Amino acid sequence: MTPAVATADWEKLRAVAQDAMSRAYAPYSGYPVGVAALVDDGRIVSGCNVENASYGLGLCAECGLVSELQNTGGGRLTHFTCVDGRGEILVPCGRCRQLLFEFGGPDLLLETPAGILTLAEMLPQAFGPDHLR
Ligand code: THU
Repeated sequence: MTPAVATADWEKLRAVAQDAMSRAYAPYSGYPVGVAALVDDGRIVSGCNVENASYGLGLCAECGLVSELQNTGGGRLTHFTCVDGRGEILVPCGRCRQLLFEFGGPDLLLETPAGILTLAEMLPQAFGPDHLR
């Protein structure tokens, strides 16, 4: 736990993620997911997974989150949480770690089943925007 965020803030983020999860569209996997993140200006953004009859086109919850981030003013993600259909803390999939890296970088804090970890720990040696500069 970092001093920058109190336990209650993680609980709030988890509640927002759970609320988003309740709106997931996951008729094929039956596995609803919700995510929420704090932005460096104090906003909270969230997302749920949205699947598709063409299975491979399904959108992870993180896709909705980064889309909302960008569409509501941008900024940097600082704290992130992800929950499954039972409200249990879930790790983001590999592709979504990459999505998060774009907008949170290595210092983004993630709530995981193994505790609070940085994105650098969850996605070591990440390829990112700096490689294209
Ligand atoms: N899923 C997410 O939305 N985010 C993740 O990080 C893990 C997986 C979704 C994708 C799919 O709709 C369902 O979970 C089962 O894989």
